[in-house]
Amino acid sequence: MGKKVVGIFFGGRSAEHEISMLSATSIMEAIPKSRYSVVAIGVRKDGGFVYYPGGKAILHGTDASKVRLAPSGIPVTFQFGKRPGLIALSNKRFLKRLDVVFPVLHGTYGEDGTMQGLLEIAGLPYVGPGVLGSAIGMDKDVTKRLWRDAGLPIADFLVARSSQKNWTYAQIIKKLGTPFFVKPAVAGSSVGVHKVTSSRQFVVAMRDAFSYCEKVLIERMVQGREIECSVLGGENPKVSLPGAVIPTHSFYSYEAKYLDPDGAQFEIPARMAKASIRLVQDIVRKAYVSLGLEGMARVDGFLDDAGVFTLNEVNTIPGFTKISMYPKLWKVSGFPFPDLLDRLLQDAMDRYARGRKLKTGRL
Ligand SMILES: Nc1ncnc2c1ncn2[C@@H]1O[C@H](COP(=O)(O)OP(=O)(O)OP(=O)(O)O)[C@@H](O)[C@H]1O
Ligand SMILES: [Mg+2]
Repeated sequence: MGKKVVGIFFGGRSAEHEISMLSATSIMEAIPKSRYSVVAIGVRKDGGFVYYPGGKAILHGTDASKVRLAPSGIPVTFQFGKRPGLIALSNKRFLKRLDVVFPVLHGTYGEDGTMQGLLEIAGLPYVGPGVLGSAIGMDKDVTKRLWRDAGLPIADFLVARSSQKNWTYAQIIKKLGTPFFVKPAVAGSSVGVHKVTSSRQFVVAMRDAFSYCEKVLIERMVQGREIECSVLGGENPKVSLPGAVIPTHSFYSYEAKYLDPDGAQFEIPARMAKASIRLVQDIVRKAYVSLGLEGMARVDGFLDDAGVFTLNEVNTIPGFTKISMYPKLWKVSGFPFPDLLDRLLQDAMDRYARGRKLKTGRL
């Protein structure tokens, strides 16, 4: 059997454009070249796709402050239909067949089901959850309601909409206590997330959160260590050992994540009692299945001193940089990076093949 052609998409329109390129750099380096040939496709900030037939696609791929797309790419779009691949935007010439796609695109227009929908229409298998799972995972309100419905542990929360009369500070502290968290329902990288301790901060926090999304979550603050697990597979997913993030700021803010090099420490795997590991893995597995996720996701939550675990959120295209939690947790769980990538790509192709057998009109 010949090598499978993998289209790696990176960059994208979201605030995580640069992080995506760091992730893609480490993925392209680690993909087993004996089984896969790699095709690099950049997604510019204006949304355009550019194909790099040879040479460098990403400049300064390991430096978050300098990383950028190479200027030399060819603008492309998808060839839809029985022979999916890339065609030149200029003259529609067929440039490259693709067998499978790895959308290494974080946040909106990458992780939220929109790119997944385009790949479905193009007729291409892809890594990560499908349209529905991706869209659910991106919306913290829908995610939490499904978890609550499945009887899984979440923090109490209220939803505010920009079009409706808002909760007052007094109403909130009566229901949730103080401090509490304010966050956009759809966002990432902690943008628009605020820890609120006064009515003045509340006003500022709501205004900022509403600037990212018309729906805002107001959440009870959860005490405890921030714990994350990597998950892969379908209805019977595999869950990695848990890891811990220990922010040095008052919470794991945008600054702590990306601007301050000492913003957080990582414990991989997390030092935890065996019983707690089992408890966390069991809740994480149920959390993943209850959202209809497939392919992969990182599930995050909090573990308190009494051993109570509370779910926080999922990331369906988690970070894949050399220092990212998702691949590192698999490494300590017995799945080195190249094997992990092989498994994710193989899963994507198997899922697509299964889908083709259904009477859904798939090509
Ligand atoms: N209810 C809460 N209780 C305590 N801390 C919280 C709570 N909600 C959020 N935080 C803190 O804020 C951080 C960011 O919140 P959250 O993970 O919900 O947002 P995010 O923007 O989706 O992040 P990501 O980039 O992981 O998608 C968390 O890592 C945590 O430090
Ligand atoms: Mg988070």
